[in-house]
Amino acid sequence: KEGFGLSLTFFFSVMYKSLIRPLLFKLDPERAHHFTFNYLKWIHRLPGVPALIRAIYQVEHPALHREVFGLHFKNPVGLAAGLDKDAKLYKELSNMGFGFIEIGTITPKPQSGNPPKRLFRLIEDQAIINRMGFNNEGVAAAVERLKKNTNVLIGGNIGKNKIAPNEQAVDDYMACFEALFNYVDYFVVNVSSPNTPNLRTLQEKEPLKALLTTLQTANNQKAKQKPILLKIAPDLTDDQLLDIIEIVQQTHIAGVIATNTTITREHLISANQQETGGLSGKPLKQRSTEVIRFLHQKSGGTFPIIGVGGIFSEEDALEKLAAGASLIQLYTGFIYEGAGLIKRINKALINNANC
Ligand code: FNR
Repeated sequence: KEGFGLSLTFFFSVMYKSLIRPLLFKLDPERAHHFTFNYLKWIHRLPGVPALIRAIYQVEHPALHREVFGLHFKNPVGLAAGLDKDAKLYKELSNMGFGFIEIGTITPKPQSGNPPKRLFRLIEDQAIINRMGFNNEGVAAAVERLKKNTNVLIGGNIGKNKIAPNEQAVDDYMACFEALFNYVDYFVVNVSSPNTPNLRTLQEKEPLKALLTTLQTANNQKAKQKPILLKIAPDLTDDQLLDIIEIVQQTHIAGVIATNTTITREHLISANQQETGGLSGKPLKQRSTEVIRFLHQKSGGTFPIIGVGGIFSEEDALEKLAAGASLIQLYTGFIYEGAGLIKRINKALINNANC
């Protein structure tokens, strides 16, 4: 059974990279996203298909289990925020092997985001630039979908509406926190997207401390608290990262997600590299690992880190974990490599544990 599962995974990985991906990459990136989304939803409605996909991609092994910030993860490989913004596909994505799914970024009210074109493939660099701008259907729509969740571990990544001035940002984060509280397992405070004007100034010491203190105070008033994590940009200086450590420790939030996309453009070869927005994928890998290592070492490992940025292989995943990440997330690598990547990483983790 094991051998059959592995050869099917290999077959689908080859199919994805040699047939499906070239076809999808002929489409405009946002159309390809919607097409794949609808296709995955549709095939999961066919009898027997969800079970078949689970049999092909899911790996169950005690060596993959993780207890992090009080939650049990069946494996440490998660889907990063931004792909399933509106909680439309979390069950299907979980069937494909992810140990947890982060939905969002969600804002209190629906908003359409920036005008298209706003998503670009940098194929030669194995990267993506996006300036989506938190397009989402709003927190109420996500809550309705999450009410149907039975067993997928969900992170709720929250932000503010574009029209909300930074002075009122706390109200937007609080509105999402309260609405999602009963329907997610952990929260992520996103102050690091480059695509909402001035959002990243909320990463500065005083506004960030105020925002996290308000959220954590509300959390402490609940009968059972939910872990709150902070998602940071890779473009912070060492001094800013030291401030982040201090703030995490002072506000007693549960941990950090490192990192979001970068606004830097270094060593790229693709013609469309100057598009405005956040860059993700291979060119982000090294910086994201440096940030994880810095936070882990300077904090003495006092809080967990979810490592994300440029993971395209099992070696990349192991590197993030060795740098100090407790869990990892994929986005761009999942687009370029397909779902086989999740299984390859999980298999490598089992082999590593057995060594
Ligand atoms: C993202 N990312 C993201 N992050 C976030 O916190 N909220 C969001 O809404 C989005 N949206 C989003 C859209 C698109 C198209 C991309 C490519 C990325 C960032 C993502 O979660 C991740 O942090 C980075 O992409 C780095 O990881 P990868 O892509 O290099 O694996």
